[in-house]
Amino acid sequence: MFNNLTELPTDPILGLAAAFRADERVNKVDLSVGVFKNEKGETPIFEAVKKAEAYRVETETTKAYIGMTGQDGYNSLLLAEALGASHPVIAEGRVASTLTPGGCGALHMIAQMIKRSNAKAKVWVSDPTWANHIPLIGGVGIEIETYPYFDRATHGVNFDAMLSQLNKLGADDIVLLHACCHNPTGADLSEAQWDQLAESAAKNGWIPFIDSAYQGLGTSLEADGYGMRTMAKAVPQMFLALSCSKNFGLYRDRVGLAAVITDKTNVNAVLSHVKVVGRGIWSMPPAHGGAIVEKILSTPTLRDSWVSELEDICSTVNTNRQLLAQALTGAGIPGDFGYLTENQGMFSFLDLSKDQINRLREEHAVYIVGSGRINIAGAHKGNVDLIAEAIKAVF
Ligand SMILES: Cc1ncc(COP(=O)(O)O)c(C=O)c1O
Repeated sequence: MFNNLTELPTDPILGLAAAFRADERVNKVDLSVGVFKNEKGETPIFEAVKKAEAYRVETETTKAYIGMTGQDGYNSLLLAEALGASHPVIAEGRVASTLTPGGCGALHMIAQMIKRSNAKAKVWVSDPTWANHIPLIGGVGIEIETYPYFDRATHGVNFDAMLSQLNKLGADDIVLLHACCHNPTGADLSEAQWDQLAESAAKNGWIPFIDSAYQGLGTSLEADGYGMRTMAKAVPQMFLALSCSKNFGLYRDRVGLAAVITDKTNVNAVLSHVKVVGRGIWSMPPAHGGAIVEKILSTPTLRDSWVSELEDICSTVNTNRQLLAQALTGAGIPGDFGYLTENQGMFSFLDLSKDQINRLREEHAVYIVGSGRINIAGAHKGNVDLIAEAIKAVF
């Protein structure tokens, strides 16, 4: 039966990561994969995670299944981190949620919930969006459309075009928004723009679907949650996909949360469907990552340590942005790189042609994905001048 299958090309980003690992040049630079790295090229484990994990190993008494939707403590603590503990949707008991394997599990769970709730639903994604949104959501057979988002001239958000498209949508339209640190552009919405989007959703009836994979890596936990909190106050229904991969560094433990915000009258019905969908995908959710997050968020000293480690990562990324902008300008490369310090999170685009990107890899061992998206964490004070010189050489 497998004779029908032809070999597919390797995922471009993961293929590049493999090529980087195999590259033996000493000054190689990886600006590709979306994982935080320090100056040594390491992705360290948070101290708070190590402590919570040690506690878990010490105290865990069984490996029996946890509940179908995870551990209530985890779900409510993480939701409180995203929305604020006193958010009305929490106080009013209007959230049906489940622990998921990573943010990707949450995105796919929500896609299935959309499909089973409204066969006519369409999901609108930003142009461009994270490549994996398409298979995770479109894979369940939902139609996907794009709304204007990125302004290539300014590297910011083309908000007028975005809003004017979203103002035309209605109740069958679900709009996927990035909570902060937009992947791949780094162009984020301002608080005033979130306010206008919330007004548009409330007035026109389109349903927000917020993907939050980087809370705390843009400005702060509080500021990065503005869009989620504002939207959830403005609309009767909303979807939320949370990931703990980046902001807890729990990438490989696969821990996330899918939440459906709805009316008090149907929250139990929604939750029953969430359980059935989960049963059909992973049957039972994983326990380990969620237990670590729960321990951190419920222990004040561990939470303080986590917040401060996250602030360090956030400030490292923002410093890297400044250093790279200065180095590119200092090297005399044509263009205004001020946008690098205005964009947020781990990603931004460099305006490079395919040929320049290939030459950077082949001639200078600087690895950038084909779209020109760079992972800012890979550019630090130890290598920004080298990166700038390499880029200058391919202009
Ligand atoms: C925009 C976005 N959403 C969601 C995710 C989910 O990641 P994970 O499944 O590893 O938690 C990512 C990870 O790169 C992402 O960039």
